[in-house]
Amino acid sequence: MFPTTDPTATKSWQLLQKHATEMKQVHMRALFMEDKERFGTFSLQFEDILFDYSKNIITADTLNLLSSLAEECGVPAAIKAMFGAEKINVTENRAVLHTALRNTSNKPVMLDGRDVMPDVKAVLNKMDHICRQIHSGEWKGYTGKPIRYIVNIGIGGSDLGPVMVTEALKPYWKPNIQTYFVSNVDGTHIAETLKKVTPEETLFLIASKTFTTQETMTNAHTARNWFLEHAKDEKAVAKHFVALSTNEKAVTAFGIDPNNMFEFWDWVGGRYSLWSAIGLSIALTIGYDNFIQLLDGAHAVDNHFTQTPLTANIPVIMALIGLWYGNFFGSATEAILPYDQYLHRFAAYFQQGNMESNGKSTDRNGNQVSYETGPIVWGEPGTNGQHAFYQLIHQGTRLIPCDFIAPAISHNPIGDHHVKLLSNFFAQTEALMNGKTAEEVRAELEKANTPAAEITKILPSKVFSGNRPTNSFLVKEITPRSLGSLIALYEHKIFVQGVIWNIYSFDQWGVELGKQLASRILPELENNDVITNHDASTNGLINAYKQMRQ
Ligand code: F6P
Repeated sequence: MFPTTDPTATKSWQLLQKHATEMKQVHMRALFMEDKERFGTFSLQFEDILFDYSKNIITADTLNLLSSLAEECGVPAAIKAMFGAEKINVTENRAVLHTALRNTSNKPVMLDGRDVMPDVKAVLNKMDHICRQIHSGEWKGYTGKPIRYIVNIGIGGSDLGPVMVTEALKPYWKPNIQTYFVSNVDGTHIAETLKKVTPEETLFLIASKTFTTQETMTNAHTARNWFLEHAKDEKAVAKHFVALSTNEKAVTAFGIDPNNMFEFWDWVGGRYSLWSAIGLSIALTIGYDNFIQLLDGAHAVDNHFTQTPLTANIPVIMALIGLWYGNFFGSATEAILPYDQYLHRFAAYFQQGNMESNGKSTDRNGNQVSYETGPIVWGEPGTNGQHAFYQLIHQGTRLIPCDFIAPAISHNPIGDHHVKLLSNFFAQTEALMNGKTAEEVRAELEKANTPAAEITKILPSKVFSGNRPTNSFLVKEITPRSLGSLIALYEHKIFVQGVIWNIYSFDQWGVELGKQLASRILPELENNDVITNHDASTNGLINAYKQMRQ
């Protein structure tokens, strides 16, 4: 196992605090002026992905100190522990091996003295087989028609990854397959989806690691009832329902044939499960070969992550830069801004990835942390974001480090759309870094013959302080492989940060209390009694709800 070091007790942390005081006086504009090689120094190429981190308030000293912090906190040992199948998810006594799911190297991955790879491959083969059957039309529904619709029913990690990836890879969709995702327990979600599909041509994938999640089970039962209303034959269920789960007992109890179950294991965290059987909706939508490309892209990053020194290791650098602002500049959030409409769920996906993994305040010694941990992650695709919230990023009082992601080649090369999109991508990071000085604003206004009084009035509002940090990911093209790589980079960033913050990144106890209380409240909503056993607000709301329904 790796050390459980309080990061604030390290020498590097103390030095970083001092260094941060100095760096707060530095403007990136000056750093770029002083060093013409800055882009070369602070950018890295990984396959088709160019990672430019030069527009950050950092110098070589900053990165050296941050790398020392990573060393002192045991990041190299932690990487070995994760890939070595140690039970680093201590509170659940589990290994963390989503990397084994994309281990296309043929190297064994030993867990408790047993190689997990034969099991991983067996499930992949089963996924390949069903993809062939569905895509060839060999798999027939209960009336003999081929499957045209895939409906994935799952939530959280059993939904967000497949949604994000299938949306991101829309140009790769198989013809004649339409995929939908149902997650919310709000009946509207399943009702609206069922309007778009036919019972004869739909394959429902019930995606749940535990197969107990209230939302998923409720939607699954509704789908099953709807299906049986039409099919009127329990035997037909086998042709239309499959399960993606770790819980065979619950799958069988639901009425799904174990042959139609695609297994994964407790060492796959929910929010890291798109690489597992949970990815079946992806494989059915874009084809099994493309799914393998996705895994390959992630595996290539796993190799980079395990084999590259910290100072040239992209996920490590991403982690350290995030931590630099969160712990030493007081920033609370990070924006992920993809300049690609197909990546419109990328930020939502990593919102769960980050916030469920590193939204923790108890350290690995059981103590309350005295420093900030996981950031609030959010974002929308550019250029829509520009017309919504960028104002605050440019001129607000808060520091919001941003990641910009764009493909050089568009899947839809229509007219001049892509150059316009990319001109915005480049312009935004330049503007955020440089800003605009009062002198520049004055010169601009004078050139436009603005009256002096008007200049005095509006000049201060037109000044941009700049010095707002960004990372840029310029990807040649969003393909299954490059997307797989991009996802893995962000996953490992989260891991490295969790190690340094000395927290457990792979459990999620914080979601339990709400679930418990909801199940206690549910029966209270099913009678006409006046409820008095909660606090006054909760009682008031529940009773008002009951009144409104009368
Ligand atoms: O929100 C909590 C959580 O456990 C997530 O971690 C997980 O992705 C989601 O619920 C769904 O869980 P399951 O796959 O077991 O239905």
